[in-house]
Amino acid sequence: MYFYDSRGYGDFFNMGEYSRKGYEPVRKKISIFDTTLRDGEQTPGVSFSMKEKYEIAMKLNDAGVNIIEAGFPAVSHDELTTVKRINYDLNNTCSLARCNRNDIDKVIESNSSIIHLFIATSDIHMQYKLKMSGDQVFDRITDSVEYARSHGLRVIFSPEDATRSNMDFMEKIIGAIDVDTVNFPDTIGIMNPMSMYYFIKRIKEFTNKKISVHCHNDFGMATANTLAGIMADADEVQVTINGIGERAGNASLEEVVSSIYGFSDSYTDIKMEKLYSISRYVSEASGIIPQKNKAITGENAFSHEAGIHVQGIINNPKTYEAINPEIFGAKRRIVIGKHSGRAAIKYILENKGIYKTEDEINNILKIIKNENKTVDDEYLLQVVNNE
Ligand code: KIV
Ligand code: ZN
Repeated sequence: MYFYDSRGYGDFFNMGEYSRKGYEPVRKKISIFDTTLRDGEQTPGVSFSMKEKYEIAMKLNDAGVNIIEAGFPAVSHDELTTVKRINYDLNNTCSLARCNRNDIDKVIESNSSIIHLFIATSDIHMQYKLKMSGDQVFDRITDSVEYARSHGLRVIFSPEDATRSNMDFMEKIIGAIDVDTVNFPDTIGIMNPMSMYYFIKRIKEFTNKKISVHCHNDFGMATANTLAGIMADADEVQVTINGIGERAGNASLEEVVSSIYGFSDSYTDIKMEKLYSISRYVSEASGIIPQKNKAITGENAFSHEAGIHVQGIINNPKTYEAINPEIFGAKRRIVIGKHSGRAAIKYILENKGIYKTEDEINNILKIIKNENKTVDDEYLLQVVNNE
């Protein structure tokens, strides 16, 4: 299988003939914009300390993230100080601001070189949240972009709630502003992969500007929708570690980057082997432990218990693993429980230098099956010693 990457990541994926069919392939580098420190911190109940934010920013940078959204400086004095501290050591950061001069001034004070300006453009948000007309929103955007640019900032503009906004209105806005990137947020996660693909294709009919997508996970579609955006030729994706973020969260960086390699001909600057340890760090700092069966970073993502599966994995891991966990710096786990077979017991014991006859293995397995639950290595050894 061919992957457009010189680092040999393709060898870690075990895809099928149809995995990469069904769309017009695009081959290019996808820029990874991480918003763990901003949208991720908006997860209800999450608040990172300054030290944690600094550590996360350094780890993201080390892993090859192209743009790190360091925070929202207008939120508080502490937030501004933290963003400033991160900016002292990194120059690939971005800061969020609403379309008003006070917020923009805070970003300037934070020394970020990139500003992420946003304002809602959907009718429902303009009427009930902003209480502004479309013309007022339009003027606010053009004024804010000009102000930010006149202070030397690179601008990413997001029409908030883009996927419920009027397309003609967005075309008018995008045609009127001079920005580096337009980011399209699916703010309440109401797209599906087909509609997202169509949406981005539709936008590309009227602009050549760099396009980014920002997908929320309200229907569990965030990663799939982000990938659909890429398949429709988006240039950048906004993601978070472990998929943390408002409500059901954002598209997860580790899932999106893996999907880029698994399903598309595109590639990224991400060093995949760093992702598992970053996931663990963010999990500890945020207190949000990825659900056990979450792809890539969940505890069970590379665990196998059922006898038939374990036998296959022992013979050749490609039988039951779509991705080799080593690419993320993670390890596969053979779990012993009521679904286990002889091969798993034999494999674990022999890895510990313990060799048993077939009859002995059968007895050990019988005892464990009677337990009717998953057992750890310590318990297994206790059973072996009692045998
Ligand atoms: O989901 C959203 O609309 C956002 C914007 C601030 C980009 O996070
Ligand atoms: Zn968001």
